[in-house]
Amino acid sequence: MAIQRLEHGAYLSTSSEDTKDFGALLARLLADGDVLVLTGGLGAGKTQFTKGVAQGLGDTHPVTSPTFTLMAVHDAGRIPLYHFDLYRIEHAFELEDTGIFDVLGYEGVCLLEWGERFSDELSDAYLSMVIERTGEYGRKICFVPHGERASELAEAIDELVLATMNDTD
Ligand SMILES: Nc1ncnc2c1ncn2[C@@H]1O[C@H](COP(=O)(O)OP(=O)(O)O)[C@@H](O)[C@H]1O
Ligand SMILES: [Mg+2]
Repeated sequence: MAIQRLEHGAYLSTSSEDTKDFGALLARLLADGDVLVLTGGLGAGKTQFTKGVAQGLGDTHPVTSPTFTLMAVHDAGRIPLYHFDLYRIEHAFELEDTGIFDVLGYEGVCLLEWGERFSDELSDAYLSMVIERTGEYGRKICFVPHGERASELAEAIDELVLATMNDTD
């Protein structure tokens, strides 16, 4: 694992492989009902990270941004992964049609691209992941927890990163 730890809750990825590996690492910790909101502009790496989560859960099918279908299910892994891309949603009432309320916070892991735009309408318990471009291949990744479970996850991922760093030293 080549992801670098900048400080508690803040990491640096220098390749899309790093970002995927980070997703796969987080996948080990995920449980039914977990919600992840991925924030970052177009090309930040939200979908790359999601690929890693799917792989980490054991689903090897291809992952692409569900920009037009709004939702994609990857259910060949340990627990289902519901991948939403809310980029094209303009109004909160359109969320109903995506099926998000059938699963959010209950079943499988929900991973939301552009979910921060509707944070008031969606779950108030979620782990926010903010990806910021620092260069062509550089991405600063920060976790901001909302709620107790998200805090646990943020803590656990930090410990896992530290443990993996020690393994390779
Ligand atoms: N460190 C990195 N992490 C993630 N993606 C990266 C990184 N460096 C370069 N990239 C490239 O940036 C693009 C990210 O695309 P994507 O994951 O689809 O972004 P988003 O879903 O946020 O719009 C990909 O072409 C990927 O290869
Ligand atoms: Mg995307």
